[in-house]
Amino acid sequence: MLVSYFVTGANRGIGLEFVNKLSQDESNLVFGTARSLKRADKLNALADINDIVALKAAAEGVASITGGSLDVLINNAAFIQLERPHLAISEYDEDNLVKDIETSVHVNVTGVILTTNVLLPLLRKRTNKQVINVTSALGDIPFTELADFEAAIPYSISKAALNMTNLKYAIKLREEGFTFLLLSPGIVGTHEKSSAPEVAGEMKLARKAITLYPNWKGPLTTHHGSVLLKKMTQKTHNGAFLSQNGNQEWL
Ligand SMILES: NC(=O)c1ccc[n+]([C@@H]2O[C@H](COP(=O)([O-])OP(=O)(O)OC[C@H]3O[C@@H](n4cnc5c(N)ncnc54)[C@H](OP(=O)(O)O)[C@@H]3O)[C@@H](O)[C@H]2O)c1
Repeated sequence: MLVSYFVTGANRGIGLEFVNKLSQDESNLVFGTARSLKRADKLNALADINDIVALKAAAEGVASITGGSLDVLINNAAFIQLERPHLAISEYDEDNLVKDIETSVHVNVTGVILTTNVLLPLLRKRTNKQVINVTSALGDIPFTELADFEAAIPYSISKAALNMTNLKYAIKLREEGFTFLLLSPGIVGTHEKSSAPEVAGEMKLARKAITLYPNWKGPLTTHHGSVLLKKMTQKTHNGAFLSQNGNQEWL
């Protein structure tokens, strides 16, 4: 029996690596989605995760191939704020603050909820019932405190909200047999611009990381995708929040 996957934001970065790795296994049926055809010539569904019409059409497309079901949803797509990652919360001008927070929450939280809700009927048809929300250690409150990390404000706030979103789903759908997992991939060098929040923050984080995580070897490459996928499919409890190490070691 084929295992079906729906991966958002699959035209580049970690999402693309997930699709490539999952597709190597013939027992998987992989739907990689992107929001624009221009950026996704090899993918098979279009889905801007904030466009409910596009999402419903993508879900119908999946259902027509699988017979109405889906095993695993990977909410990978995210808005990663590239312009002002260094700013601390008190350093933002008002216009950029509103713009950056709204966009980050719109994509990283609302988009994930819209996608999940549209696909729930398909997920309910299978026993796997697995949803993986790709999050970040930057959304983890204890880690932020420990790392003393003041930057990447909109992104961190949106990922913290995503973490709560995951828990709300885990609570609500527990009795139906769902597993909602938060997975933080670690720092992965997916951006050419070294100002991506994780990478830009890396230098400051790195100073702390050296003391917090003395074995940290620096940013990972996207080839790390297969390791992440193993962590995702390992037996875990509904509502878990795991790093690429399968625990709560974030770097
Ligand atoms: N890289 C890291 O170090 C790191 C660390 C921790 C967590 N993460 C998380 O890992 C995931 C993947 O990160 P990444 O570095 O691979 O990101 P990335 O290279 O920036 O790719 C982001 C993906 O999300 C898509 N996307 C953005 N807005 C969208 C929307 N409204 N609808 C549909 N797709 C949308 C992008 O599509 P377009 O090409 O059309 O923009 C792209 O495919 C994200 O959830 C990120 O927060 C990454």
